[in-house]
Amino acid sequence: MLSSAVLISAALLSVVSAAPPSSGIAAPLAEVIVNCKVPKTVALTLDDGPYIYARNISDALTAAEAKATFFLAGNTWSCIYQDENIKTIQYLHEQGHQIGSHTWNHLDLSLLTRAEVNYEMNKTEEAILRVAGLKPAFMRPPFGRYNNLVREVVAERGQKIAFWDTDTEDSWGATIERSKETIDEAIARDATSLHILAHDTYATTAYELVPYAIKQLQGAGYKLVTLAECLGEEPYQWTQKPGVKNDTWRCG
Ligand SMILES: *[C@@H]1O[C@H](CO)[C@@H](O)[C@H](O)[C@H]1NC(C)=O
Ligand SMILES: *[C@@H]1O[C@H](CO)[C@@H](O)[C@H](O)[C@H]1NC(C)=O
Ligand SMILES: *[C@@H]1O[C@H](CO)[C@@H](O)[C@H](O)[C@H]1NC(C)=O
Ligand SMILES: [Zn+2]
Repeated sequence: MLSSAVLISAALLSVVSAAPPSSGIAAPLAEVIVNCKVPKTVALTLDDGPYIYARNISDALTAAEAKATFFLAGNTWSCIYQDENIKTIQYLHEQGHQIGSHTWNHLDLSLLTRAEVNYEMNKTEEAILRVAGLKPAFMRPPFGRYNNLVREVVAERGQKIAFWDTDTEDSWGATIERSKETIDEAIARDATSLHILAHDTYATTAYELVPYAIKQLQGAGYKLVTLAECLGEEPYQWTQKPGVKNDTWRCG
């Protein structure tokens, strides 16, 4: 017994000493946020924009004194630097919604190298800083896919990973009836709080699901707030004055 234990620890030691420093065995891993913390709050999150329905969603929320969180992709449904998108992002921020990063090309980060994960995150953070002057404290990995390498990079970049506890299934091709049911089911669970995944890139989500969710959730006594607010945390690492568009603001 003793000798095998010695052998095992010797083997572990050699693995440790053989590992290059950059493998970061003890490197901090970003926290993965699944649930909200503040009772009776809901964080409605909208991924994949900026896109043409974001303002409509914002207006429906504002009319109900509700806030949401938009996880923006750099170059997925449309280029984040298009004039319309710049206006939309600034509008969302002015309306009090939170902005988070959903990376650049919407790739499965768990299949990428450290440098590639950094690239995917850097490009979108740079764009959000330029356009709105915000350095996000939260990111949502595309498809909700991540591994420990991704968690290390996210931590190094000062962020936390935002997962969710309720999927409206809108990006899986669910019918609007089914997506509404996911809201009804969430309310029936009587959870202390909810962290809901939806996508602002679908007309049905914008014009049917979001208004339905606002009505049902508020009717059940929940307050729709930003992700940061439902956690009692800061939404951004820092803020600065937005930039002025020039030739370097492009997706190609
Ligand atoms: C959606 O928002 C756009 C831009 O604010 C507006 O022109 C359009 O009328 C809205 N659509 C609906 C259906 O409300
Ligand atoms: C993105 O990467 C560049 C080049 O390494 C760096 O200068 C810049 O500060 C980074 N931007 C952000 C927002 O991390
Ligand atoms: C272009 O914009 C970037 C980011 O906003 C800024 O750092 C750079 O100085 C600008 N370049 C010119 C030529 O104005
Ligand atoms: Zn996405």
